[in-house]
Amino acid sequence: MIVVTGASGNVGGQVVALLAAAGERVTAVSRRTAELPEGVRQVRADLDDPAGLKDAFDGTDALFLLVAGQNPQAILDGAMAGGVRRVVLLSSQGAGTRPDFYRHPAAFEDAVRRSGLEWTILRPGGFHSNAYAWAESVRGGRSAAAPFGDVGLPTIDPADIAEVAAAVLREDGHAGRVYELTGPAPTTPRERVAAIGAALGTPVRFAEQTREEARAQMLQFMPEQVVEGTLAILGKPTDAERRVSPDVERVLGRAPRSFADWAVRNAAAFR
Ligand SMILES: NC(=O)c1ccc[n+]([C@@H]2O[C@H](COP(=O)([O-])OP(=O)(O)OC[C@H]3O[C@@H](n4cnc5c(N)ncnc54)[C@H](OP(=O)(O)O)[C@@H]3O)[C@@H](O)[C@H]2O)c1
Repeated sequence: MIVVTGASGNVGGQVVALLAAAGERVTAVSRRTAELPEGVRQVRADLDDPAGLKDAFDGTDALFLLVAGQNPQAILDGAMAGGVRRVVLLSSQGAGTRPDFYRHPAAFEDAVRRSGLEWTILRPGGFHSNAYAWAESVRGGRSAAAPFGDVGLPTIDPADIAEVAAAVLREDGHAGRVYELTGPAPTTPRERVAAIGAALGTPVRFAEQTREEARAQMLQFMPEQVVEGTLAILGKPTDAERRVSPDVERVLGRAPRSFADWAVRNAAAFR
């Protein structure tokens, strides 16, 4: 049995679908009800209430864990009591490059490393799907706003993260590894907006935001520390943050998918 947390989300939902399609027995954990493939067991629980996860963990071999809740040690203790031997953590690139800003994923990484379980850490950079933030303004006015319009970063397709996670959960040979997950090439926000326009077959205007405008917008849905870390990465990425990682190809045997490919597959959200 494999337990997948964040099953109602972007990455977790795709991990569940891939594992179920591969014939694995899956328990999907989230607070909201998730739409799940047939045969997947649903447990509604909060990672901030590890005692409520007991049912989910009974008889489990492997755990896909995302960074949520304040007590990773309690989550892992519960998982081990239920029989878990392997944990795959969806962390964040920032835990490695800017641990002072990304303390939450860094704390989960520490707990996973100390757990005595067979662990693998996935550290994605920014997701292609962060472009969903532009969906409303593209639909309504064929425009999209972002700061640092000409700074390139190799964003990653969440479908590739899910595929890597499913492989690492099922295969041996990944224990003790930290995989940096990026797309195939850096793209700038301006180029990503143009790619959405190309996918729609109609131009989309790029509007450059100031750092302060972007900060105010991000503070509506992210803690201040994460906002500062994210703005630092978007505006002045380090060499490590700009680097295209070979790890998706190492695990999957194929190159990661580009932003343009993601835009074509997700064009309906922008129409
Ligand atoms: N977007 C990026 O650029 C980026 C970059 C690096 C790392 N990441 C990491 O990747 C993770 C997954 O991204 P995503 O796009 O799949 O996110 P998402 O679509 O927002 O999904 C987040 C999932 O986490 C679950 N969740 C949140 N708090 C929870 C809690 N207390 N207890 C149980 N479940 C909880 C949510 O389920 P319910 O609300 O139903 O409980 C949902 O299923 C993020 O959480 C972030 O840490 C993101």
